Amino acid sequence: MKIVIGSDHGGLALKNNVIALLQELGHDGEDVGCFENDSVDYPQFADLVCEKVAKGHADRGILICGTGIGMSMAANRHDNIRAALCSEQYTARMSREHNDANVLCMGERVTGPGIADEIVRTWLGTSFCGGRHLRRIELFN
Ligand code: RB5
Repeated sequence: MKIVIGSDHGGLALKNNVIALLQELGHDGEDVGCFENDSVDYPQFADLVCEKVAKGHADRGILICGTGIGMSMAANRHDNIRAALCSEQYTARMSREHNDANVLCMGERVTGPGIADEIVRTWLGTSFCGGRHLRRIELFN
């Protein structure tokens, strides 16, 4: 899959771990920044990722900040973006099965690298159930 990924300074280290995992899993990852530890504004990176997903230039997006909260708030303001803030494997799986989440948000200050690895593997490997869940997500827009 083509995965576009972005972070602010609070998520930069975890983002680099996730990029390595995407490579290991054979995905085509595109990093839209940030690239330095300098303080930046997370909505700018949420917008870059969500525009690519919403326009079909990427299959899915991943956004990481300190808590994941700001990124998920910014992402869910975009039409056709269903962003899920996940801090463990169960919600990562359910966000795909029931919500067809197309953007995954995580918080580097909340979720350690081992749990983040499990979340990303699960989230990328789980399909949407459709059926009644499709009817529900169609009510979003
Ligand atoms: C940056 O300090 C921090 O506010 C940001 O990474 C994020 O946690 C916001 O939701």
